Amino acid sequence: MDVITDVHDMKAYVREIHAMGETLCLVPTMGYLHEGHLDLMRRGRTLADHVIISIFVNPTQFGPHEDLDTYPRDFARDEKLAESVGVECIFFPGVQEMYPQGYATYVNVEQITEGLCGAGRPGHFRGVATVCAKLFNICDPDCAVFGEKDYQQLAVIRRMVDDLNMRVQIIAHPTVREADGLAMSSRNKYLSPEQRRNATVLNRVLIQAQELVKAGEHDTAAIRQKTIELIRSTPEVVIDYVEIVHPETLACLDMIEDQAVMALAVKVGPTRLIDNMTLEA
Ligand code: PAF
Repeated sequence: MDVITDVHDMKAYVREIHAMGETLCLVPTMGYLHEGHLDLMRRGRTLADHVIISIFVNPTQFGPHEDLDTYPRDFARDEKLAESVGVECIFFPGVQEMYPQGYATYVNVEQITEGLCGAGRPGHFRGVATVCAKLFNICDPDCAVFGEKDYQQLAVIRRMVDDLNMRVQIIAHPTVREADGLAMSSRNKYLSPEQRRNATVLNRVLIQAQELVKAGEHDTAAIRQKTIELIRSTPEVVIDYVEIVHPETLACLDMIEDQAVMALAVKVGPTRLIDNMTLEA
């Protein structure tokens, strides 16, 4: 396994791959890998000759009172896990390497960053778009795989890639869930056993919403109301938002006519969790 911490070394590594006429897939991560990440890497292996991952806990996407300092990190474990699914190289830069003294350039994707997580986490998607633009410039991947669990993030990256004419192809990969339906996330580690049980309400309300739509309920206010009731009946789970949005524009919908996405964010104790599911009319 190659571990590269320097931007210039990473660019040289990628240049060699392209010079051989071979393709490259990037899986950007913040580390503390779980089965969901490994599935993105396995998907990457089916898409390109080489898979590179990046591990970088990106400070610009964390708000001042968020968990940047306590975000879980374990590079030795991550390296073993990535190797076990055939990753050849990890780009593992330090903060100074990515944001050296005098750094001043940010990517701001408008409109679709305003609602959902963007409303409660100002600046978050500016940080995500900026670091992804940098990673795409440094690693010059043919494709990059992102999980659908971070639905708004995926939409923001797609918008940025289209708007800025980047050559990378963005691949969406389905959310990987635990046996009880909880979406895999590095932040699940923060949950106590009881909070962990309560957190399964997220998947339950999403399935309930899908069933309501299948049964003919297309009025989003009614579906949101039932969702909110079930979440509120669960101890320690506090709603940040429950929205039903257009799959591409992320605009809130009154009625589900064709396809919609239900997106949720809650706090379980101090831990913020998100999830989403497609609803088909
Ligand atoms: O989803 C994540 O882990 C991060 O937001 C990403 C895409 C690696 C950017 O830091």
